[in-house]
Amino acid sequence: VNPIKVGICGLGTVGSGTYNVLTRNAKEIASRVGTDIVIAEIGARRDNPNCDTGSVPVNRDVFALAENPEIDIIVELIGGTTVAKELVLKAVANGKHVVTANKALIAEYGNEIFAAAAEHGVTVAFEAAVAGGIPIIKALREGLAGNKIDWLAGIINGTGNFILTEMREKGRDFNDVLAEAQALGYAEADPTFDVEGIDAAHKLVILASLAFGIPLQFDKAYTEGISRISQEDVTYAEQLGYRIKHLGIARDTDKGIELRVHPTLIPEKRLIANVNGVMNAVMVQSDAVGPTLYYGAGAGSEPTASAVVADIVDVARTLTAGPENRVPYLSFQQSALSSHPV
Ligand code: HSE
Repeated sequence: VNPIKVGICGLGTVGSGTYNVLTRNAKEIASRVGTDIVIAEIGARRDNPNCDTGSVPVNRDVFALAENPEIDIIVELIGGTTVAKELVLKAVANGKHVVTANKALIAEYGNEIFAAAAEHGVTVAFEAAVAGGIPIIKALREGLAGNKIDWLAGIINGTGNFILTEMREKGRDFNDVLAEAQALGYAEADPTFDVEGIDAAHKLVILASLAFGIPLQFDKAYTEGISRISQEDVTYAEQLGYRIKHLGIARDTDKGIELRVHPTLIPEKRLIANVNGVMNAVMVQSDAVGPTLYYGAGAGSEPTASAVVADIVDVARTLTAGPENRVPYLSFQQSALSSHPV
């Protein structure tokens, strides 16, 4: 296949970042894949004044990209679960590989989407869905593939961590910081997803599925956000030598996999207590390697695009290698559910 053609659907914060990274680093990326990666078409309801897409055709109908026979990889960066789900299923049914940053879509409809992908022999990759630019999906799928994982815990919502950090360091008002996070492109379209823990819960169930080989079960996660944390809470915690951090935690227990998302008090000397601003961090405790920690920008245009482009590179490599070398991105046995109830 030469060159590999991608269609970018959505030209918001992450879509424009993906366009910029793919075009700016085209040479480096081509040398890593062994072939050029070309943006064949963009699907976007409106132009983005911050993104000059040059001569690439922009189609107002994203579904047209799923029908474009030229396109090998559909990059879904629309967000939400209605149009995005229809688009991904259509692309998959048409034999196209999909790269998505959509955690809500994967967490809530992933079981159906991966079944469709398996049926059609295509890949659905989602590195950018969890912890922005941190390659945590690759760490779990590849780096830790020889381990039995005991638990993982992480700061996996950049907006929430940005709010808690600004409240602690500068005494700023919760809603002011949230407005800034929205302006910086960190927050979800509906920011209640960030402040009520829903976004973190989406990410946690994806991590747990990879770590423990269980189906995606968003409805099973205990979910609590940071919206009731006051300036007094933050100040008192600090006076006692703690920091308030919002964590997603998944643990393999005797009774099954425990999934929970809520604010926690962490002693200020711990590494994870010092993860500030929009940064995310995920700790993983496994039997062979022991503890590992992954740190980096959890949201934002180019950090998230970094993960999207990594998936495009990954899928492009399997395309050049041929179908016999393809490995599904998420594979679990339904039977794992009875041995690992959530
Ligand atoms: N709203 C999300 C966050 C974006 O703040 O972490 C990245 O997934």
